[in-house]
Amino acid sequence: MGLYERLISGECKLAVIGMGYVGMPLALAFAEHLGVIGFDVNQRKIEQYQSGFDPTMEAGNEKIRRTKVEFTSDENRLSEAGFFVVAVPTPIYDDKKPDLRPVESACEIVGRHLSQGAIVVFESTVYPGVTEHVCVPILEKTSGLRCGTDFKVGYSPERINPGDRVHRLENIRKIVSGMDEESLEVIRRTYDLIIEAGTYPVSNIRTAEAIKLVENSQRDINIAFMNELAMLFDLIDIDTNEVVDGMNTKWNALGFRPGLVGGHCIGVDPYYLVYEAEKQRFTDQIVMAARRVNDVMGKFIARATIRQMSRAGLAPSLAKVVILGLTFKENCPDIRNTRVVDIIDELKEYSVEPIVCDPLADPEEVRREYGIELADPSDLHGVDCLIVAVAHDRYKDLTKEEILAFFEGSSNARHVLIDVKGIYGKHEFEKMENMILWRL
Ligand SMILES: NC(=O)c1ccc[n+]([C@@H]2O[C@H](COP(=O)([O-])OP(=O)(O)OC[C@H]3O[C@@H](n4cnc5c(N)ncnc54)[C@H](O)[C@@H]3O)[C@@H](O)[C@H]2O)c1
Repeated sequence: MGLYERLISGECKLAVIGMGYVGMPLALAFAEHLGVIGFDVNQRKIEQYQSGFDPTMEAGNEKIRRTKVEFTSDENRLSEAGFFVVAVPTPIYDDKKPDLRPVESACEIVGRHLSQGAIVVFESTVYPGVTEHVCVPILEKTSGLRCGTDFKVGYSPERINPGDRVHRLENIRKIVSGMDEESLEVIRRTYDLIIEAGTYPVSNIRTAEAIKLVENSQRDINIAFMNELAMLFDLIDIDTNEVVDGMNTKWNALGFRPGLVGGHCIGVDPYYLVYEAEKQRFTDQIVMAARRVNDVMGKFIARATIRQMSRAGLAPSLAKVVILGLTFKENCPDIRNTRVVDIIDELKEYSVEPIVCDPLADPEEVRREYGIELADPSDLHGVDCLIVAVAHDRYKDLTKEEILAFFEGSSNARHVLIDVKGIYGKHEFEKMENMILWRL
């Protein structure tokens, strides 16, 4: 019996390594068809899933309670698996070089439990060559098995978009690759069980690895262009969003908007591409230029805020400044690599001590990661300057009256509204004499 048949018959299980934003939805989807082990080294996270709580908010507590996934932090359980999917983080070091330690450690763990005929598919975002030249040697060393004869590997980049209720794992076409025809066939058939939009096989692992980096780098580059325009148009008093709206009426406009680029994908993956390019003594000029532009946006927004406060006659050290939203993107509790902290840090340089609020972020995680105490939303009145940094639905849905209520009790004659994401009707506030509205 082949591996696919063994999976289907329940003779062996599929194990997902890394139960985060990527791994958890995968485990849940596979568990509708196969026996699934959901493994993570983070015991707290596993306990949360076991108790029916979904810290990622991707599936919701109800689905976590109903799933048949066997959540565990006991690596010995991995011996029951024949098909492994690795979805651990791939961050960067402070010097922006790839930090492959989680992937390497996952390979050691999987290697210790690898058996004859197994397949290991990597979903973590990596630069071309990592699966074959970094992961395979570790798997071989820890298992004592030979890749190609005893076990096989593949790569399938993840395209999910946390917080997005439209583009879901099941309806996003999935790139799949394998080290040879035979492994590709098993990988393709296995993913076809859960991907309604179908799989898209490519000819080799390096190509699949490159596809993921290119997808995210092209977003970074396009957003950087919008951000560069936003900085220029701010100097000459043109509203970037109005320009973009106009441009988007043309059939070939790309639809990008200016904004903060954070999280651990778009702001990170281009560095993986740059790292590979540098190894080849090639300079990725456009990719690096985009990174430089996007990395200064937090500072730019903070300085624009200070300018608007000065126009309103507000002294930075005395003004009550509130930031709504801390997560790296809308409708998602993920605070990793959020660039809202750049706004906060730069405001502090001007003696502003902003009050930060985000109902989606975990207060304990925020305290641990950034030393920020999240404020209780009920304290948010008498505000002099309101910065809406993240377009959570609950902020988007605020009515004009609800926004104005934040400023009630402020002793300053003029208030400042910084609409980073351009989510509020510009003209509504612009007509108000006591309001200064600035948007990116
Ligand atoms: N979040 C996204 O939107 C997204 C989208 C596409 C691709 N990716 C990529 O997918 C990968 C995973 O991202 P994520 O957002 O799910 O990360 P995550 O941090 O949410 O989850 C990763 C999990 O892996 C666990 N982990 C770390 N080392 C481990 C090990 N050695 N063994 C077992 N578990 C381990 C962590 O405890 C964590 O729970 C990354 O490479 C990322 O770039 C993420």
